[in-house]
Amino acid sequence: MASRSGNLSVTLLLSLICVLIICSVNAQLSANYYDSSCPRLQRIVRNALTPSVRRDRRLGASLLRLHFHDCFVNGCDGSVLLDDTSTLTGEKNAFPNMNSLRGFDAIDTIKTRVEAACKDTVSCADILALAARDGTVLLGGPSWTVPLGRRDSTTASQMQANIDLPPPTDDLSALISKFANKGLSAKEMTVLSGSHTIGQAQCSSFRAHIYNGTNINAAFARTRQARCPASAPNGDTNLAPLDLQSPNSFGSDYYQNLVAKRGLLHSDQELFNGGSQDDLVRTYSRNNRAFRNDFAAAMIKMGNISPLTGTAGEIRKNCRVPN
Ligand code: HEM
Ligand SMILES: *[C@@H]1O[C@H](CO)[C@@H](O)[C@H](O)[C@H]1NC(C)=O
Repeated sequence: MASRSGNLSVTLLLSLICVLIICSVNAQLSANYYDSSCPRLQRIVRNALTPSVRRDRRLGASLLRLHFHDCFVNGCDGSVLLDDTSTLTGEKNAFPNMNSLRGFDAIDTIKTRVEAACKDTVSCADILALAARDGTVLLGGPSWTVPLGRRDSTTASQMQANIDLPPPTDDLSALISKFANKGLSAKEMTVLSGSHTIGQAQCSSFRAHIYNGTNINAAFARTRQARCPASAPNGDTNLAPLDLQSPNSFGSDYYQNLVAKRGLLHSDQELFNGGSQDDLVRTYSRNNRAFRNDFAAAMIKMGNISPLTGTAGEIRKNCRVPN
């Protein structure tokens, strides 16, 4: 008898826990979040972005990176978009972001159009998640359905940005652990690094690798040295494509470069350096479809890092300042 009622209370307790878990899952993001409050949202974002990316192809890459740098610092909460003020230290001047992040004006333009159609309704964090997806698609990348309902932070953390965002000098184990800290696997780290199939990097980000790297094709290193002098700060801001083959077109050639030891960043080449990710890099180098599918799934997961939902945070009126 005692054990039977004990079993009953255990069952009740388990059901209660299940309900609580389902509730918390329901409080999470959903693809149709703005269907009634802002039905034209996705078209507004795409229509605002398309001409801008046609004009400046790199912008598609810059927006993808901006979303990554938002999500890795206290979750996808629009914190990366906040400007520094006398009372708030934003993330824009953290080391991985300073003189490097781009795309803020494009986000402002989209936000203005979204506000005109749906005032005080759509968060900057959600606009950034949609812009990252659309930027990827406009450069030939895969599409995915973006879960929505994120709210915006009222604060930012420059210190956390310096701690959580990986520098290009990281080795494989540091990269794996920084992604593990955000609930992402080594495989997801490797597929998300495939973002470097688009966009550019500055000489200061890859100088040490092209002069002192031990796992780099010599001819490739010489080519990159031509526009990246050995002694800083000479040529610090000179750009080179992260994917030497096609920096404005999304594809598995990034992984082909790694197999050929033509990764631009030290951190890129760490994914193919005799370690645990070699097989996966080889697979993606031959299988563009697997890369695209896994990339889309990992982007949804990255976009789900600790969002503010419900009544947490706010819907910012201007993405650069808390209300
Ligand atoms: C795995 C660790 C990663 C490291 C160490 C890293 C590092 C970097 C660095 C140093 C740059 C060049 C910045 C500059 O020189 O101004 C860069 C560019 C870029 N990163 Fe990453 N990144 C990583 C992962 C990611 C992820 C997960 C994404 C997106 C999901 C991403 C997207 C991009 C894009 C698209 C660019 C080009 C941006 C542009 O042209 O404006 N990266 N990354
Ligand atoms: C390469 O390594 C040497 C020896 O450690 C160092 O003096 C030099 O500054 C490094 N060069 C670059 C470009 O990192």
